[in-house]
Amino acid sequence: MLDLAATFSNPAFILSALLSVEHDGWPPNRRLDAARQRLAALLQENIAERHATGTARADILSRLMEARFDDGSRFSDTALVDNLIANLMAGHETSAMTLTWSFAWLGRHPEVAQRLQDEIDSLGSDDDIAAIQALPYLDAVVKECLRLYPAVPDVLRMLAKPLQLRGYEIPAGLNVAACSAVLHMNPDLYPDPERFYPERFLEKTYSGNEFIPFGGGNRVCIGNHFGVFEVKIVLAVLLFRGRYTLQEPAPLRVARRGFLMGPTSARVRFQRK
Ligand code: HEM
Repeated sequence: MLDLAATFSNPAFILSALLSVEHDGWPPNRRLDAARQRLAALLQENIAERHATGTARADILSRLMEARFDDGSRFSDTALVDNLIANLMAGHETSAMTLTWSFAWLGRHPEVAQRLQDEIDSLGSDDDIAAIQALPYLDAVVKECLRLYPAVPDVLRMLAKPLQLRGYEIPAGLNVAACSAVLHMNPDLYPDPERFYPERFLEKTYSGNEFIPFGGGNRVCIGNHFGVFEVKIVLAVLLFRGRYTLQEPAPLRVARRGFLMGPTSARVRFQRK
């Protein structure tokens, strides 16, 4: 999986994707295909083992294997592998990057970190997942991290029909992007937009047109709830068990990390309580 993620994020592959180089023999495409095939073979082996033993586990693969379409049919093994790879790829770096942003912001805003720490400590334990999910300030902190510098700064669509936009007609067939990184900086929606201020999410509820770190419409991120859910659990458990100090509290700078945007550095030191 890491092998595939690294090949996918390789600058040479990104450049060839931007230039729409679809030739299979082109080295970056060949490396990506080889990494994908290695992962697909591992997953296929795991699926075959589950078919043979009838073992069901409490994981996404077993859920997909048990799922049935309306006519009673199930996913083919190829579709299972494709779905797993799509979700692993789309869900891994994005969630990890959001977590990285959380430490980058918290390390530079001790007042926010302290309020969050107090809320998490008030739980008394870190094993009640429902209680973690219900923490209002934790929720606000994660949303503020997703607002400022969203890991995926824009989402693309090819126009199926012409679009009228502020007096311009954009023809069908053209690619357009909804840019969360720009929308989330609109001071009419987010006063003092560059400030890391989680409280704004306690003071106001934002609509699906105002807060779009997971895109929107029919192709909205399928893991949007799960992404927030897992980032909140990891943050709560880590902060409950220890204390973190940022190792390089230089001004925050943004850099491209493969297809995502991330902080240039967010190295932290962990001390167990
Ligand atoms: C904080 C974490 C995450 C962020 C910021 C994020 C962000 C996004 C964005 C912006 C899109 C494009 C949506 C659009 O085009 O409108 C997307 C698509 C997608 N995401 Fe996520 N995502 C996250 C976590 C996850 C997780 C955990 C999973 C799966 C377990 C996942 C699976 C997918 C899939 C399969 C798509 C493609 C959906 C489609 O085209 O129909 N994502 N994500």
